[in-house]
Amino acid sequence: MSPTTERAAAQRTSPVQRLEFARDGGYDVVLRRGLLEGNASLITEAIGSRRVAIITTPTVARYYGERLHRLLVAKDVSCSLTVLALQERTKTLASVAEVAARTRAAGIGRRDVLIALGGGVATDVVSVAGSLYRRGVAVIRLPTSLIGQVDAGIGLKSAVNANGVKSALGGFQPPEVVLSDPDWLCSLPPRALRAGMAEILKVALVLDVRLFDDLRAFGPSLIASRFAGPEDVIDAVLARSIELMLSELQSNPFEEDLARVVDFGHTFSPLLETASDHRFNHGEAVAIDIALSARIAARLGLLASCELDAILGLLRDLGLPATAPLVTAELLAHAADDAVAHRGGDLNLVLPSGIGASVFVRARAELTDALLRDVVAETVPSRSG
Ligand SMILES: NC(=O)c1ccc[n+]([C@@H]2O[C@H](COP(=O)([O-])OP(=O)(O)OC[C@H]3O[C@@H](n4cnc5c(N)ncnc54)[C@H](O)[C@@H]3O)[C@@H](O)[C@H]2O)c1
Repeated sequence: MSPTTERAAAQRTSPVQRLEFARDGGYDVVLRRGLLEGNASLITEAIGSRRVAIITTPTVARYYGERLHRLLVAKDVSCSLTVLALQERTKTLASVAEVAARTRAAGIGRRDVLIALGGGVATDVVSVAGSLYRRGVAVIRLPTSLIGQVDAGIGLKSAVNANGVKSALGGFQPPEVVLSDPDWLCSLPPRALRAGMAEILKVALVLDVRLFDDLRAFGPSLIASRFAGPEDVIDAVLARSIELMLSELQSNPFEEDLARVVDFGHTFSPLLETASDHRFNHGEAVAIDIALSARIAARLGLLASCELDAILGLLRDLGLPATAPLVTAELLAHAADDAVAHRGGDLNLVLPSGIGASVFVRARAELTDALLRDVVAETVPSRSG
């Protein structure tokens, strides 16, 4: 290999990261360019001699699913391709049942494997289906969206919506392996890229000031170029986001501790997402939650006004919302009550305390109605802006 080719090859790989836990051992999260090039060896090695059903969505099938299917068939892998219109509104048990029916029709047995190829909705639905089908079948995740590669596709848990409640039914279903290709992000619509930036901002703001600075420096141009480059910046941002997420999960994989820093941005957002009838996507609802949490933190003296301005300015530069007409003090109080039920009786609201650090507000009583009313009132001028 010439030095130039060697350098190019080195740039196309990031270190494999791994989540270890006692039950089942753990799994690798691999970020690698060119996964579908050549004979897709990483994917075929992961499948081994098993029969495989690829489950994906129409757009992702057109860009990557059909190619993966052809590659696997050419390698004599016994493989089917199922394309289902999985969206937030159809992220339901009915879709889980549909995946199971197609999986059965594809002849998948107990020792075979599903490939979940797509965004966070697809990986969530297929992971839930995989955990139920024949009482559990292996799932390889190939996350194709930004949210998928830094968050939804890499963790242990997945869920579907039910009874009008976001992520109401689910569980812990570790994947066998996660294989992500940053090149796949280039076909993602800008709105989905922006949503993914909200999840990166989530970990940066409470865990890593350097990643926050990188987002300020490169975030808007990465979205404008639709993640076309520079590759070293993209790979570094993705790898760092994954590292932060996995290290948080590593210490608390099955959420025995219900106070989780990575729940930042996820106290008000589930209700915002459903109350908007999913007009806000997941990342947009998280962005509004981040802005509200930052405003609460500033009012409690945890953030300086210049830090609050930096956070709100970054949200704006990333094209993400910071509030919406449906945000009322009553809605926020209701969301906080839901969070208490979800978090075993404590609020565990994560607030930034400076950039790159956080504290928990444990007791629901500390989040007073007056505080929520003040925070909502503060957002009113920006609503008309
Ligand atoms: N399980 C978890 O821990 C977890 C964590 C975060 C988010 N989530 C869930 O993830 C979902 C959001 O994920 P999302 O933003 O990926 O949404 P999504 O799955 O709806 O994908 C967004 C859109 O992008 C398309 N798409 C995906 N990859 C593409 C690509 N490479 N090129 C072109 N189009 C592509 C999809 O078809 C879809 O239309 C929410 O349901 C959220 O609850 C789950």
